[in-house]
Amino acid sequence: MSNAQSSRVLITDLAAMKVAGKKWAMLTCYEQMTAQIFDEAGIPVLLVGDSAGNNFLGHENTIPVTVDELIPMAKAVVNSSKNAMVIADFPFGSYESSPEQALVTGVRFFKEAKVGAVKLEGGEKVVPQIKKLIAAGIPVMGHLGLTPQSVHALGGFKVQGRGDAGEQLLKDAIALQTAGVFAIVLEAIPAALATQITAALFIPTIGIGAGSGCDAQVLVWTDLVGITEKIPKLAKAYRNLRKEIAGAASEFARDVANGDFPGREQSFS
Ligand code: KIV
Repeated sequence: MSNAQSSRVLITDLAAMKVAGKKWAMLTCYEQMTAQIFDEAGIPVLLVGDSAGNNFLGHENTIPVTVDELIPMAKAVVNSSKNAMVIADFPFGSYESSPEQALVTGVRFFKEAKVGAVKLEGGEKVVPQIKKLIAAGIPVMGHLGLTPQSVHALGGFKVQGRGDAGEQLLKDAIALQTAGVFAIVLEAIPAALATQITAALFIPTIGIGAGSGCDAQVLVWTDLVGITEKIPKLAKAYRNLRKEIAGAASEFARDVANGDFPGREQSFS
């Protein structure tokens, strides 16, 4: 039986990349196959995001997602990757009540899925939760700007931090850093504000719709490969797999209808 040390990316590696000025990429990931592919492609950080809600579970947004739904996904991603740091997202309702509630959620993701870190949304108001998790040895990533779990309170999926609101975002970022987070996602904020926040922090920022001035960038993997029906403005589809997959499905159906599948190669004597 082996108990060899893991060779996974650590929070200290991400800190060193900020110092060295090296930019890096993070992808969301919800299951085995993409975990293997992204890990082999050298993506250093995989996020088991609550974006699984509207990219995997068929919900309209992230709000209905539960810890019980994310844990098997996080387990699959950990089990199917060797090098990437795997981060589990805290879903809506799993941390807001108290630091104790956040710790229960963090302990579940740590013990049951064996992730390397967790992520939660919010600024100064979630500092007590962050402190509790870090005191227990659970690294925390923050998430500011357009925080999708607050979509109703924000009045929709809108750019955040414009005008005077930028000052509060900078304050929130500094509060999270002081509380001990190892990195912060900045979602849908003006590029100039993200650059300013990135320069003000010693921890890495990870942008999504936050311009090129962040230390890292994250994409939802279904946007990356063009499976998502409508690619949001903040994302880029590097392929059109929606078309490829639809094409494969139609060809298969046609071959079955024509009696061309299975052929001799797929048959046994
Ligand atoms: O849940 C998610 O996928 C996220 C990323 C977009 C940062 O929070």
